[in-house]
Amino acid sequence: MSNVVSYQVVDNIGVISVNNPPVNALAQVVRAGILEAVTAAQNDATDALVLRCEGRTFIAGADITEFGKPPQGPGLPEVLGAIENSTKPVIAAIHGTALGGGFEVSLACHYRCAIASAKVGLPEVKLGLLPGAGGTQRVPRIAGVKVALDMITSGNPIGAEKAKALNLIDEVVGGDDVQAGAIAYAKELVASGAPLKRIRDITIDPATVEPGFFDAARKQLAARARGQIAPDRIVSCIEAAVGQPMDAGLDRERELFMELVSSPESAAMRHIFFAERQAAKIKDLPRDTPLREVKKVAVIGGGTMGGGIAMCFANVGIKVVMVEINDEALARGLGIIEKNYAITMKKGKLTEAQVAQCMGAISGTTDYGDLADVDLVIEAVFENLELKKEIFAKLDAVCKPGAILASNTSYQDIDAIAAATKRPQDVLGMHFFSPANVMKLLEVVRGEKTADDALATAMAIGKKIGKVCALSRVCYGFIGNRMLGGYGRESQMLLLDGCTPAQVDSALEGFGMAMGPLAMGDLAGLDVGYKAREGRTDLPNDPKLYRMGTVLVEMDRFGQKTGAGFYKYDPATRARMNDPEIEALIKSEAAALGVEQREVSEQEILERCLYPLINEGALILEEGIAQRPSDIDVVYVFGYAFPAPKGGPMHYADHVGLKNVYDKICEFRDRYGEDYWKPAPLLEKLAKEGKTFAQWGAEQE
Ligand code: 3HC
Ligand code: NAI
Repeated sequence: MSNVVSYQVVDNIGVISVNNPPVNALAQVVRAGILEAVTAAQNDATDALVLRCEGRTFIAGADITEFGKPPQGPGLPEVLGAIENSTKPVIAAIHGTALGGGFEVSLACHYRCAIASAKVGLPEVKLGLLPGAGGTQRVPRIAGVKVALDMITSGNPIGAEKAKALNLIDEVVGGDDVQAGAIAYAKELVASGAPLKRIRDITIDPATVEPGFFDAARKQLAARARGQIAPDRIVSCIEAAVGQPMDAGLDRERELFMELVSSPESAAMRHIFFAERQAAKIKDLPRDTPLREVKKVAVIGGGTMGGGIAMCFANVGIKVVMVEINDEALARGLGIIEKNYAITMKKGKLTEAQVAQCMGAISGTTDYGDLADVDLVIEAVFENLELKKEIFAKLDAVCKPGAILASNTSYQDIDAIAAATKRPQDVLGMHFFSPANVMKLLEVVRGEKTADDALATAMAIGKKIGKVCALSRVCYGFIGNRMLGGYGRESQMLLLDGCTPAQVDSALEGFGMAMGPLAMGDLAGLDVGYKAREGRTDLPNDPKLYRMGTVLVEMDRFGQKTGAGFYKYDPATRARMNDPEIEALIKSEAAALGVEQREVSEQEILERCLYPLINEGALILEEGIAQRPSDIDVVYVFGYAFPAPKGGPMHYADHVGLKNVYDKICEFRDRYGEDYWKPAPLLEKLAKEGKTFAQWGAEQE
C-alpha cells in the first residue's frame, strides 16, 4: 500500500485512510492508493469499507497542480468505478470540506456520512472548470436538477445538516470523531442489510424538469458571466443527466471538462487560486515569524472607510473602538454601521442575535485617552498628510508599547507618517477598499522601518478578517492606485479621439471589468480625482490631460452623487443613461483642442486602457514595490474587479505576449509621446528575451 493511503480493520469494518497533507488532494499516489485498497478489500473478511482522511479535511479535490501536465494513471473515473462496483458497501466519512473531486469520490460511495461541522461542495466553477468526475451527473440524480444547478454554478459549499436535508449526504454523525461515527454508522447499515446504493442507477424523468428550465438558466448565467464559459458548460452537463443513461452523461461531462481544462479562462483562474495563497507569503520573512497578539482594535475616523473597517473586526469577534472628532460625528459613524448590519440581516446573511453580537463588539469615543489598551490602530481620517502626522503623534503618546499603528491612506507616504512617531517600527499601512466590509483586498504597506513581527501580524490579522492580503512597499498610490493612473487617463483621452463614454465603458465591460472606467469615475465622484490633481506638480502640462473630467466638475457634474457626470442617472433607479449633451460637448472640446476625431476600434480602447496597467506593473516590479507579478494580479482581481478569467493584468500580458504589448506601447509612444507612453525597462527586456512575467517571477523566488 502507498504511504499516503493506509488500511486497517476495526470491528470487521475496513478503514481506508488518506493522508496527503495539507488538504488530501487527489494526487496520483492518492488515486492509486485508494484503488489498490478498495480492490484488495474485496477479498478480505470485512463487512463494509469506510473511506476517511487524516488531518484537517476530507479530500479537498483534484490536485490542481496536476492540471496541464501529462495525465498519470489511474484516472479518477477508474477509482470511482472501483468504489461504485465494490461488492461490499463503501461509506464516505466526511470531516472538514469534501470539495470537488473529493465530494465526487464520496458520491461514488454507497453512503455518505459527515460530522456536523463538515461542508460539501463543488467549487470547480471558481477555477473555470466543471466537476469532471461525475458531479454533474450524480448530484442532479440525488438532489434534483435545481439544487445541482445552484450548487455547481455557484461553487459554494453546503453545511452537513443542509446537505442531509438536500439528500446530498445520508447521515450526520454525532461528535467530532468522524471515524468512530462512521464505523458505528457502517455497522448499523450492515446490521440492517442496507443495499448497495449506486447513484448511477437513478434515472431522472424529463417530465420532472420544467420546460425551458435550462434555457432560462443559461440566459441568467450569461448575464453575470463576465468572461466565464464554465457556467454555460455546466448547464449542458446537467441537461445531459436528464433522461439519459449515466454513461452518456459522463461522456458529455468528460468532453466539456477537457474543453475547460485547456481553456485560457481556467488557466487564469487557477493562476489566481495559487497567486492568492502565494501573496500571503513575505519573501524575506520566515513563516514562523512571531505574531503580536491582537485582541482589541481602534479605528480612527468613522466615515466611509472607518465604519466598514470596524465591521470587519466586529464580524470575527474582535473588540473595536471607533474614535471621532465629536459626539455628532461619532453618532453618525455608529449609525451607518447599524444601518449596514440591518441590511445584511434583511438579506438573511446574519441573524438578529449575530448582529447584536457584532454591534456589542463596537464602542465609540471622542477621547484618545481611551486607546491605552488597544493592540492595533487603523487610522481612516481625511486624506491629509499633516492631519495624519498629527494623529500618529497623538497615538504615539497614548498607545501602549508594541501596539501596531496602521494608516488606511490611499496615497500618503507611510514613512513620513511613521516619522511623526518615536516608534516607526510599529507603523505600517493597511489599505482597505471601499466598501471595506465587502471588498476582499487588503494592501499591507511595509514602511522603511516596519518591524518583521508587526508586518507578519498585519498579514495574519488581514487573513483572520477574511481579506486577501498583498504586500506593497511605499510609493504614491501603492500598487493598485498607482497603476490606475494611466487607465483613467486613457479612458478620457479616448473621448477626445472620438469615442463616446458608452463605447469606452462597454469595451472594458465586454472584457469583463465589473464597470467601465468612466462609469467608475462617476461612481467614485469626479470631484475626488479633480481635487487630487490640483495638488500635483508631476503631471505633464497638457490641456488634453483629464480634459473631460475637469470640464464636468466645473459644470458641477460630479457623477452619481449629483445625478450626472459622464452619464445621466435616473433619480429613482440610478440607471445610467447616455447623455447626448455630453457627447456633443466632447466633440466641441476636441475641436477646441485641435484633436481630429476618428473611429476608434474596440481593440484600441482595450490596448490603450489596459497596457498602461501592465507597463506601470512592470515598473512596480523593478522598483521592488510589489514582491512578484502574481501579487499585482491579486491586487487587481480582488481590489479592482479585474476579471478573474483574465487572471489579472500581468497574467493577461503574458497571455497576449510581452512582445506584442511592448510593440504596441512603442507604437503609442511614437503617436502620443513619451510623457504618457514610455515602455518600462523590465517589459522591454522580457519582450526582447521572449520571456513572460511568470517566468521572471519564478526566477526571483
Ligand atoms: N490541489 C492542490 N493544492 C491545493 C488544493 C488542491 N485542490 N487545495 C489547496 N491546495 C494547497 C494550497 O495551494 C495551499 O498551498 P500552500 O500552503 O503551499 O500555499 C495549501 O493547499 C493549503 O490551502 P489553503 O491555504 O487554501 O488552506 P485553507 O485551510 O485556508 O483552505 C480549502 C482549505 C478550503 C480546502 C482550500 O484550500 C480550497 O478551497 N481548495 C481548493 C478546493 C477546490 O477547488 N477543489 C476542486 C479542485 S478541481 C477538481 O476537483 C476537479 C474534479 O472535479 C475532477
Ligand atoms: P470620510 O471623509 O468619509 O471620513 C473621514 C472621517 O474622519 C470623518 O468622519 C471625520 O469626522 C473623521 N475625522 C477627521 N479628523 C479626525 C480626527 N482627528 N480624529 C478622529 N476622526 C477624525 O473619508 P473616507 O472616505 O472614509 O477616507 C478615509 C481615509 O481612507 C482616507 O485616507 C482615504 O484616502 C482612505 N481611503 C478611502 C477610500 C474610499 O473609497 N473612500 C478607499 C481606500 C482608502
